[in-house]
Amino acid sequence: MQIYLDTANLEEIRTAASWGVLSGVTTNPSLMAKEKGADFRATIQEIASLVDGPISAEAISLDAEGMVREGQEFATWHPNVVVKVPSTTEGLKAVSRLARDGIRCNVTLCFNAAQALLAARAGAFIISPFVGRVDDIGVDGMSLIREIVQIYRQHHISTLVLSASIRHPRHIVESALAGADIATCPFKVLEQSMKHPLTDIGIERFLADWKARQ
Ligand code: G3P
Repeated sequence: MQIYLDTANLEEIRTAASWGVLSGVTTNPSLMAKEKGADFRATIQEIASLVDGPISAEAISLDAEGMVREGQEFATWHPNVVVKVPSTTEGLKAVSRLARDGIRCNVTLCFNAAQALLAARAGAFIISPFVGRVDDIGVDGMSLIREIVQIYRQHHISTLVLSASIRHPRHIVESALAGADIATCPFKVLEQSMKHPLTDIGIERFLADWKARQ
């Protein structure tokens, strides 16, 4: 399973990229809005210069025409740009049109496996089921990943399953176990993933022993 960073913050991307773990980046309008005053195009291009992999940029139009127009523009920004569109019938229409032109799409805000199957049939490159937001309404978000992975495998569908709305390190582990192709993680969750009290205690003990050697 590949690891993407779910952010539009360049500092976070620079730091996580320096760890050598990033295969791509996902952004969305909420994440972009957090970067006060940042230009969308310049941010996506800067991200593409930091990470050599798919960079998702989300359209804000609700109609297929608008999504296609936005997607065609995003695709001119960098060859690694993937156009994010919502799991709606207009989104499906936009995906099939953009896919015909060779523009890759990430179908986002996926909350059931039927949406994932239709998105794949429309030609989605990536499907983004939102694990954390499903958990938030008291339903097991990870079972959504398991269902989609099973359906795609059973029907030889090549659309990549990207586990989104990741809230803690266990979500990363369970996404990998469920067979997701990608997990897109907030910076904080990536950092948390590498923290373990026994690692810290182990380092302290090794250093203390080394200093005390005869
Ligand atoms: O990028 C989409 C998704 O990962 C958002 O996560 O935490 O806002 O539900 P969250």
